[in-house]
Amino acid sequence: MRNSFAMVSVLLGISRLFRLLTRTPRLIFRDHHQEEEEAQRRGRQFGGRARAVHIPILEGQQQHQQQGSQGSVGRLMGKSGSKPGASVPVELTGNMAADAFLKNGIVPDIVDKPPTETAAATYEGNTIIVDFGNELTPTQVKSPPQVTWAAEEGYLYTLIMTDPDAPNRSNPKFREWHHWLIVNIPGNDIGRGEVLTDYIGAAPPKESGLHRYVFLVYRQQGKLTCNENRLPNNSTANRGKFKTKVFATKYKLGNPVAGNFFQAQWDDWVPQLYAGMKK
Ligand SMILES: *[C@@H]1O[C@H](CO)[C@@H](O)[C@H](O)[C@H]1NC(C)=O
Ligand SMILES: *[C@@H]1O[C@H](CO)[C@@H](O)[C@H](O)[C@H]1NC(C)=O
Ligand SMILES: *[C@@H]1O[C@H](CO)[C@@H](O)[C@H](O)[C@H]1NC(C)=O
Repeated sequence: MRNSFAMVSVLLGISRLFRLLTRTPRLIFRDHHQEEEEAQRRGRQFGGRARAVHIPILEGQQQHQQQGSQGSVGRLMGKSGSKPGASVPVELTGNMAADAFLKNGIVPDIVDKPPTETAAATYEGNTIIVDFGNELTPTQVKSPPQVTWAAEEGYLYTLIMTDPDAPNRSNPKFREWHHWLIVNIPGNDIGRGEVLTDYIGAAPPKESGLHRYVFLVYRQQGKLTCNENRLPNNSTANRGKFKTKVFATKYKLGNPVAGNFFQAQWDDWVPQLYAGMKK
């Protein structure tokens, strides 16, 4: 686990460095529409290929570096996921993971405070990498991913994967549709955790645009005894209207310590996935 975490970190590091060197700084007052177009373009460029990575907060990092020495916080116009089309100011922090969560509206749509550590998530045996908002396809994410993070000795963790954009980002009346929920994970050994909700891959409705699929890791204060329904992978019942904030509060999980996310839109795996459900 530790080795694959290190390997993924190194790959991501090299890719980021390359992008920093090959992209010129750009400024930053962008609206929802521009970002959407960018996301789609990136998707076309990278989405179909396995090692697709991109850094949505690149501009923010650069601005932060330019302001650098006073340690001041970059102030950008980002977008709130809850109000598509509206530009709201987002205070960036200079932390890569946190800023990606802020810029993509995961704060406040799912959590109030962003994680500062990366949850390294990969599909299909490390060939498909989740990287802070890159676009993957439902086909690529149909089987459960490997997820790992820098766990502290002796602690139990909770892992959540959730989609705030159900049925779509502009009118998310089923927010959140949760895909995976495991508690009492010893360290980062998810195979030994207690599965409350079995993994179901991304299944966004046709023509509903990009959805965000967000991984959140919480460090537990102790062992949890949960009275939640156990949700199997052969039914979509009770997945919608999940609230990460409510769950985290109920079980005193505090703020997430690690996270990551990808985006996906409909592809022809989705109808097959629903066909396999009992209702
Ligand atoms: C988004 O979902 C709402 C229902 O919540 C629906 O009325 C609307 O047509 C959808 N828009 C798109 C673009 O899919
Ligand atoms: C559902 O989960 C079972 C084990 O719990 C697994 O064997 C099966 O492959 C999964 N099915 C799908 C469609 O993911
Ligand atoms: C769905 O999965 C659950 C748990 O694995 C199992 O108990 C149940 O029989 C399955 N239902 C169907 C219709 O396959």
